[in-house]
Amino acid sequence: MFNKKISIIVAMAQNGVIGDNNKLIWHIPDDLKRFKRITSYHTIVMGSKTYQSLPVKPLPNRRHIVITRDYSKAFDGCIMAHSIEEAIEKMDADNENFVIGGGEIYRQFLPFSNRIYLTRVLKDFEGDTFFPEIILSEWIKVEETKVSNDPKCNFSYVFETYKRKDL
Ligand SMILES: NC(=O)c1ccc[n+]([C@@H]2O[C@H](COP(=O)([O-])OP(=O)(O)OC[C@H]3O[C@@H](n4cnc5c(N)ncnc54)[C@H](OP(=O)(O)O)[C@@H]3O)[C@@H](O)[C@H]2O)c1
Repeated sequence: MFNKKISIIVAMAQNGVIGDNNKLIWHIPDDLKRFKRITSYHTIVMGSKTYQSLPVKPLPNRRHIVITRDYSKAFDGCIMAHSIEEAIEKMDADNENFVIGGGEIYRQFLPFSNRIYLTRVLKDFEGDTFFPEIILSEWIKVEETKVSNDPKCNFSYVFETYKRKDL
């Protein structure tokens, strides 16, 4: 069960906020492009609230696993899972699987994940959903690209990739 390649992909404000009222709170076109480039043609895994918040459902060219406790929920074009373990069993055995949110799902998958693709937004935001604490001593940073004062969103952010140390 734990031999799947599980990666988290997330955009997080300086104060840990990732969403508010079941919405994203920023629009960063280059982050959306990076998300599409990294996740396309792979399996993506998400909670039912994140699925419901997607602007396009399902996202093109990706195999979706949606996690819910409600056995009556079935979303077109999606594989449904009813626990973290069932989601892991249904993941791709050969390729990287991407956990795309939200807060509840990140918290439960972080211990099973071996990579984090983090967009660190260099600003505080108000919101109701947070990413769990990343214990930096458990991770090695393998990529860091800073974008300063992006005119498309008027703030700075850093693309960072972390690999779990015990890999
Ligand atoms: N910044 C980012 O990168 C990013 C990415 C994704 C999402 N977000 C934001 O995150 C927020 C949504 O996050 P959220 O924490 O509210 O919701 P979520 O994690 O997307 O989904 C929570 C739902 O997942 C299901 N679930 C959770 N744990 C489960 C388990 N162990 N077994 C079975 N089902 C389980 C339940 O669905 P049922 O209620 O159907 O049972 C639960 O209500 C939104 O604001 C969104 O915009 C941000």
